[in-house]
Order: sequence, then C-alpha cells, then structure tokens
Amino acid sequence: MADQLIPQHIGIIMDGNGRWAKLRGLPRYAGHSVGAKTFRRIAEYCNRIGVRYLTVYAFSTENWKRPQKEVDTILELMMDYLRDAESYVKLNIKTHFIGDLSAFSEEMRQMMDHAEKLSENATGLIVNIAINYGGRRELAQAMQKIAAEVKSGALLPEEIDESTVAAHLYTAGQPDVDLLIRPSGEYRLSNFMLWQTAYAEYVFMNTLWPDFSEKMLDNAIREFQKRNRRFGGAE
Ligand code: FPP
Repeated sequence: MADQLIPQHIGIIMDGNGRWAKLRGLPRYAGHSVGAKTFRRIAEYCNRIGVRYLTVYAFSTENWKRPQKEVDTILELMMDYLRDAESYVKLNIKTHFIGDLSAFSEEMRQMMDHAEKLSENATGLIVNIAINYGGRRELAQAMQKIAAEVKSGALLPEEIDESTVAAHLYTAGQPDVDLLIRPSGEYRLSNFMLWQTAYAEYVFMNTLWPDFSEKMLDNAIREFQKRNRRFGGAE
C-alpha cells in the first residue's frame, strides 16, 4: 500500500456474516467464526501499514435480539480473542473495548480489563472493539456524565462545547474516524460512531465481511486518498 495519506482512524462495520453462511448452507453463527478470522487478518494488516486506530463493530446494543445460539457464538468468539490477548501484544497491538460493558459477566469484564492492561504499552495499532455498543447510548451516557459534573459544580453549562462532549465518549482522547467502511452492500450507519464519523469518508462495498481482504482495504484507502477532504471549508 502506498504510504501517502494513510487514514489515521478506520471504522469498519463487519457486516454480511449471516448471508455469507447462508449462501454456503451453513448456520449463521458459522459466518461469525470466519468473520472473526477476517477481523484478525485485517487488524494485523492495518498495524503493518501504519493505521493508528481501527474501530470494529462487533456487537450492537440491538444484537441481543438475535437467536441465543448466535449471541453465544459472538460472545464466545470474543472470549477466544481475550484468551489470545498475548499474541496481539506480541504484534504491538493495543486493545480497547468500547460500549456499555456493564451488560457482560464479571468474568468477561475482568478478561477485557486484563487484555487492555496487558497491551497498554503497545505502540502500534490501537484496536477499539465495539461491543454492546450503540452510538446513541454512547451520547446519552456522555450527557449523563456531563450533567453530573454540572450538578456538582465542576462545570458550568456555558463551558460545554464540542470538546467537552468528545472527552466524555468511549473514544475520549482519540481522533475522529477518517474512513468508514461498510461491506455487504448495505448503505447505513446503523448507530455506529455517530459523533466520530461526522467528517468521515464513507466507502460501501458489496463483499460480505468473511470475504473481505487486504486488497479490498487497499482499495478503500485509495478511494479515501482520491477524495478531497475539506471539512466544510472552501477550496
Ligand atoms: C454482522 O453480520 C456481524 C455481527 C453482528 C457480528 C460481528 C462479529 C464478529 C465478526 C466476531 C467478532 C469477534 C472479534 C474478536 C472482534 P450479520 O450477522 O448482520 O450479517 P447479515 O447481515 O448477512 O445477516
């Protein structure tokens, strides 16, 4: 991949696992297993080419409505990731979980904590894994925290600006998303990173996530590089 203007922060909605499995006569959860492998490949590739942040949508606040077997499979894949946390540290990848983590078992939360601590000194790619994540919930929780600060007298209402909101999101301290990729032929944001994608370039692709390749990521980055980013300003 050409080194010119690699996006600092890439967001990916890992969509199409269910359809991928169905096309092969497999149960939906089989698509998630292959999707998790794709995630690993793409995270390693992002790390190699110098992307600083990768945020992946692994489980939304709405995904609990799926059949129990499917929810269990996704959570089990997450546990596999957590058990393998050391190997990501060896790759110099830092792990961060974003979402309403209070919904998960004590064991899982401890493992997430452990994975974050284990990798806190990694200097390569920072991977945000969004689980039980919803952009609206993230904003509502940020508003609660800000309101509590106002109530305590630590903050005046007129002091609240965009940086105050950004500093209370799960991604506090991180740059906005530059490039948002959604495979699988859907053209929606689905409640993903509502605040952080305000100026992102969106690239939609027809491939289903388990088939997503390094080459396709290169293509999305090339598309990003071709676009002229003006952030609302003039030429
Ligand atoms: C959307 O496809 C995908 C999900 C809801 C789950 C994605 C989770 C993984 C790839 C595993 C993540 C694991 C780690 C370690 C990050 P879909 O099921 O909605 O597909 P469909 O639209 O074809 O039905």
